[in-house]
Amino acid sequence: MLSSTLLLTALTVPAAFAQSNLDWDAAYTKATTMLGKLTLQQKINMVTGVGWQKGPCVGNIAAISSAGFPGLCLQDGPVGVRYASGVTAFPAAIHLGATWDKDLMRAQGVAMGEEFRGKGVNIALAPVSGALGKIPQAGRNWEGYSNDPYHAGVGMTEVITGMQSVGVQACAKHYIGNEQERNRETMSSNIDDRTMHELYLWPFADAAKANVATFMCSYNRLNSSWACDNDYALNTLLKGELGFRGQVLSDWNAKTTTGGATRGLDMTMPGDNFGDNNFVWGQNLLNAVNQGSVSTSRLDDMVKRIFASWYLVGQDQSYPSVSFNSWNNNGGGDVSGNHKQHARTVAGDGIVLLKNVNNALPLKRPASLAIIGRDAINNPAGINSCTDRACNDGTLAMVSWPRNQLQLLRAQTPNKSNS
Ligand SMILES: *[C@@H]1O[C@H](CO)[C@@H](O)[C@H](O)[C@H]1NC(C)=O
Ligand SMILES: *[C@@H]1O[C@H](CO)[C@@H](O)[C@H](O)[C@H]1NC(C)=O
Repeated sequence: MLSSTLLLTALTVPAAFAQSNLDWDAAYTKATTMLGKLTLQQKINMVTGVGWQKGPCVGNIAAISSAGFPGLCLQDGPVGVRYASGVTAFPAAIHLGATWDKDLMRAQGVAMGEEFRGKGVNIALAPVSGALGKIPQAGRNWEGYSNDPYHAGVGMTEVITGMQSVGVQACAKHYIGNEQERNRETMSSNIDDRTMHELYLWPFADAAKANVATFMCSYNRLNSSWACDNDYALNTLLKGELGFRGQVLSDWNAKTTTGGATRGLDMTMPGDNFGDNNFVWGQNLLNAVNQGSVSTSRLDDMVKRIFASWYLVGQDQSYPSVSFNSWNNNGGGDVSGNHKQHARTVAGDGIVLLKNVNNALPLKRPASLAIIGRDAINNPAGINSCTDRACNDGTLAMVSWPRNQLQLLRAQTPNKSNS
């Protein structure tokens, strides 16, 4: 507790953003003015990513110079800025949740926000409460705070509030029913309404209440229809019941259609199908608007939501421009500040120790204790040796630049565990 209190004061919050009052009405007034400056084609461009690896970030919306709009950079992820250098790989959310410390959660939101902001990222693709973690072996549970929806909701609230207090748009993801990695792009989560409300929706409701600027819809289906093409999940629950006023963007190449626009989706990412130049929206959405199957008022609503999310956190006021490139080893400057102190505090406070009161634990003078799990070793093939960290061998962190240094590290690391 002591260290986290000190930490909060030690973090440097830009003065202009510390008092951000997150006024949706004011953001919408500005968004409506901005909308009036756009042509139909520019509106289509605002809701369609430029295509995979066609900009410095994992997701990019093109600038509109005639309207003085610098464009949008969207970047992973839940443990910090991916594909950059001079950043912190923060403790995973499951560990932060295990601190049971709201101050540390808020401080992590601020610290992560400072690094995203420092790199010029507009939308940080975090935090996560889907997967919720009801299924222990689901593969991605560590990205969320807890399998208890109330606890997860507290994590969402604190981290979102912290991130947005320094001017970064947070993104509540993956909405919703994204409960396993296997077949995640084809499987269907069939969830009845009560379970939806009491379990899976709860932390997302807290995210909406915390004025999160953006939501990301997920890869999976719900009752057979795609989460990013789902009127009930997006329009009825999220924008209706939860009153969410920001924009919904798709997970990267999550299935949708031009009709997804009428069912509540506001932006497709990365735009094309991972670099094949087949844009599910773009020209197709323009055709749909011209033919009347997507109304111009709905397109205007989509664009207004995107601008409102941008204005909400004050990104129209001298926001830093993008200073790294995910694809060409240009990681940009060091924005990590003193955040390693925070990471160390969370690492310590999130460890759960069991006290053997009245010999409650089945231990009789053990000669040795085993530490169990993939995280208990270094990857036998060498730390950082899995491309894109796409493995489960040893401690995982985050993909960062410069990659040549990682390769160097890989070559120098003895291929043995430290078990
Ligand atoms: C899925 O089906 C169940 C049972 O009919 C229903 O209660 C629930 O609202 C449906 N959910 C969605 C997202 O359509
Ligand atoms: C470790 O293993 C990797 C992959 O098998 C190999 O490329 C590398 O040279 C090995 N490093 C050492 C120090 O043996």
